[in-house]
Amino acid sequence: MSEPTEVLFEVTRAHLDTGLRGIPVGTVRTSSVDPYSGLHYVGYPVSEIWQVGPEAAVYLLLNKELPDEGQLAEFKADLVRRARGFDTRALEMLKHLPKEGHPMEWLIAGLNYMGMTTKTGDYREDGLNVVARLPQLVAGIFRVRSGWGEPIDSQPELGLMENFVHMLGVPGGDADKLTQMMRVFYTLHLDHGGGNLSTFSGKAVASGLADMYASLGASMAGLYGPRHGRANQDCLNFLRSVPSSDPDEVEQFVRDQLANNGLIYGFGHAVLRSEDPRATIQYGLGAEICPDDELYKTAMAMRERAVKVLRENPKVSNPYPNVDAISGTLLQAVGLADSDFYTVLFGLSRCSGIAAQIIDERLNFRNGKGVAIYRCKFISDQQPKRG
Ligand code: MLT
Repeated sequence: MSEPTEVLFEVTRAHLDTGLRGIPVGTVRTSSVDPYSGLHYVGYPVSEIWQVGPEAAVYLLLNKELPDEGQLAEFKADLVRRARGFDTRALEMLKHLPKEGHPMEWLIAGLNYMGMTTKTGDYREDGLNVVARLPQLVAGIFRVRSGWGEPIDSQPELGLMENFVHMLGVPGGDADKLTQMMRVFYTLHLDHGGGNLSTFSGKAVASGLADMYASLGASMAGLYGPRHGRANQDCLNFLRSVPSSDPDEVEQFVRDQLANNGLIYGFGHAVLRSEDPRATIQYGLGAEICPDDELYKTAMAMRERAVKVLRENPKVSNPYPNVDAISGTLLQAVGLADSDFYTVLFGLSRCSGIAAQIIDERLNFRNGKGVAIYRCKFISDQQPKRG
């Protein structure tokens, strides 16, 4: 532990209006992001720890240690019990929401509804309930909004993602591959340090002692923005606009795009300075589940050629793929073709990590007193006026 008086960062005028980029504002125990080796959950590199699967990864974020067999079984049983407490009136409420609303707006409405009907006011209880129950809400959002039919009854004993895929009931989908994909997707998207916009917003709102559901609703509003979580939707749509999977043609497309001041979606990251290990894992998964998919081939060609072209520009600090460069491709290959829903899948996972961080900030930090209400300072550039 460092000395309380240790100077961590000198803030200069140049740091203002840059979105607090890189400025330390708190501590985090669930995860950290190294620019080169990427995401770590409680110190374990995600490139290794993702194999433990969804429930053990959530347990790790909550308890800061991996569960043994008995602890994992107990945790899973607890999630099953909590899932059974889902108030299905939330699914009825979804049927009254306007279809013009984005699925993320539905998720935010659903979280607030769950808060109104089932919150306990205890951050840990509510956080665990969200982990256990959100799959049912999100599956309901897919089914009601896509017109796939009535919500499907939950079977939580199947496991978090297994039950989610069961409740989705994707028409014509390959449930085994979708489950394999969702287990990886969920585990990889749980947490990404403390300073990303959705996590920061949720913790800030919780610091005013708003309940867990309202705080996560605020987080999800942050995630909804196209510069944050909605980038995965834009990324798939971008990839679909690449006319061919031939590497030379892909390279030409990237060059043309840059010449016209267009964006190369899925490349670069605020913190990372090498290929995002979450992308690396998913490129590998694609080789298993959809090696012949045309879009997967395009994504692989982009991985090679977009990096090559972007590296030619010394001003590009990170020319490497991030998690969004490939996740949408795999989701559509396993039957989830509507990219409007991708950010909701991101949110389904990220709510668990943010809940773990909120529990830490509210109940564990400062010897249990919790972090103080967020109150930063904005420097006024107005001269004092009279009269
Ligand atoms: C991510 O998962 O990459 C993020 O939430 C974005 C970030 O870390 O800024």
